Amino acid sequence: KSIVVLISGSGSNLQAIIDAIASGQINGRIAAVLSNKTGVFGLERARAAGIPQIVINHNDYDSREHFDTAMIEAIDTYTPDLIVLAGFMRILSAEFVRHYQGRMLNIHPSLLPKYKGLHTHQRALDAGDAQHGCTVHFVTEELDGGPLAIQAPLDILPTDNADSLQQRIHHAEHNIYPLAVEWFCADRLALSVSGSVQLDGSI
Ligand code: GRF
Repeated sequence: KSIVVLISGSGSNLQAIIDAIASGQINGRIAAVLSNKTGVFGLERARAAGIPQIVINHNDYDSREHFDTAMIEAIDTYTPDLIVLAGFMRILSAEFVRHYQGRMLNIHPSLLPKYKGLHTHQRALDAGDAQHGCTVHFVTEELDGGPLAIQAPLDILPTDNADSLQQRIHHAEHNIYPLAVEWFCADRLALSVSGSVQLDGSI
């Protein structure tokens, strides 16, 4: 399958997916990497892997809708089967989300539905939670609210702070995101028309 990855930053999840394709775990290819920021390290990772890079700077557009329309036009020249949001830090318009309904995944650093939005590690600590983690989910119009594909729960240790949690969770992301992409590319993970996640029984 053909994948377009959207990033805004370091792209370590992008790298995990690049590596999982190279090792044969994922039966797919990254057709392009799109960033809304120039000069981010994720673009360098794409370049090093020989993947076309697109930069569409949101500051060049007068509205979210115009920015999203420009992204759709650029992305669709690659006719992707799957859009992977990997640290893409812009909220997407309803039109954009609907356009890629059922074929767009995101990774979020919490055990959704807990802690949508930002500062998830500190919020989990402040709440005194025993566990924290990360989630891959299909993207719907509700921010961080789409149907869940896979989660990695981790125990919060008495010595943890937001930084240490962030590091462990980032590591877990690099395991579960390639796994979800692997399943999607093998037609083992899908979103049904009714909006529920379908996972192949052999998983
Ligand atoms: C990850 O923590 C992810 O959960 C969040 O953004 C971060 C992206 O990190 N949505 P990277 O750019 O893949 O290193």
